[in-house]
Amino acid sequence: MKNRFLDLGMQPIANNFLKEIPENEFKFHLTVSYDDETSLVSLDDFVPPELMFNENYVYHSSMSKTMRDHFLSGANHLKNILNPKSVLEIGSNDGVFIKNFDPATTVAVEPCGNFADLTNEMGYQTYCNFWTKDIVEKIVQTGKKDLIFSANCICHIQDLDDAFSTVEKVLSTGGAFVFEDPSLYRMIKRGSYDQLYDEHAHVFSVIALSNVLRRSNMEIFRVESLDVHGGSNRIFACRIGERPIDESVSYHISMEKEAGLDRLETYVNFGKQIETSKKQLTNLLKELKRKGSKIISYGATSKSTTVFNYCGINSSTIDYIVDTTPSKQNKFSPGVHIPVIAPEDTTIADADYAFLGAWNFESEISEKESEFLKRGRFITHVPFVRIIEPEE
Ligand code: TYD
Repeated sequence: MKNRFLDLGMQPIANNFLKEIPENEFKFHLTVSYDDETSLVSLDDFVPPELMFNENYVYHSSMSKTMRDHFLSGANHLKNILNPKSVLEIGSNDGVFIKNFDPATTVAVEPCGNFADLTNEMGYQTYCNFWTKDIVEKIVQTGKKDLIFSANCICHIQDLDDAFSTVEKVLSTGGAFVFEDPSLYRMIKRGSYDQLYDEHAHVFSVIALSNVLRRSNMEIFRVESLDVHGGSNRIFACRIGERPIDESVSYHISMEKEAGLDRLETYVNFGKQIETSKKQLTNLLKELKRKGSKIISYGATSKSTTVFNYCGINSSTIDYIVDTTPSKQNKFSPGVHIPVIAPEDTTIADADYAFLGAWNFESEISEKESEFLKRGRFITHVPFVRIIEPEE
């Protein structure tokens, strides 16, 4: 049974940065439930995928050094431990991961036309398609795959049984399905409710994934914790019985059980904690505004779309959002319509505070913004609402 534990109100498409403010912007009611049969945490209402993932998709994985380094070291690590002769990536975005593999033995599936064109031009055969069972024949014609990789994409897929059974059909015997997505354990520990937005149809625990993968004859044989995206897990799965199970699997499952991820009560408490976080953030910003502070936001993230729309924070509080992604610049943020500008078009040093929309890149940003930090301060809501002091 599904148990609703969080209501984040009406939310827009989190990455739909707007050239002009429309009269009727698409919004949906973002509520989140825990399924006590599988322990899966999912949105109650899914947004049609075509509205989110199309040729106008703006999120470029290569946009930050942290992610470029992450995918380079991840690719080398997988080559070392799995030594795959053939590779498929699901959701290859701008090619930041597959560019580390040989185009002759690597194919990709990517629903956003702009990115599929890009990786096709880079020499990687890329099918512009959602990952559904309709794609099986086309992929199998290029051979079954030793490594099927996917980063920050499987949690976007609404029908997991369809996705996993499709993987199972395309995987070679003994092959590995490796995917990384934000970790539910870290979300609950950090109070980072902003991991919840239209694209994230689910936030995964290892417990839930074990249950759901089994329905497609697969099991998890290894789990790695990653720091990216505010804390992610890299899950290694294979057909049941095809590989020895590493002790990292039981380690993660025990840790999650200890944190109560298999109990509804944990989520109900999380829901209450998030309501408090909202009050604290709006009060803090109100107080700083009352004192005449200039507040901006740093990183036009999907996460900040959730926070701003849930907390009702708009351009009367935040003057603008600064972001390095060209396709987000000179646009308005989804729902609350805060202008997004390029770092080179402004000097953030005259702001008193900057809300860290990209709190997951705090160290990269702090290093870069030492001039701002001589006087200004970052504000975050993770793991609790506060002004970040320099000694932290
Ligand atoms: P990310 O946290 O991956 O976003 P999401 O919540 O959508 O998954 O994205 C980080 C955003 O922050 C991205 O739009 C680029 C931007 N950014 C900057 O503007 N400056 C920076 O120094 C860094 C590291 C990121």
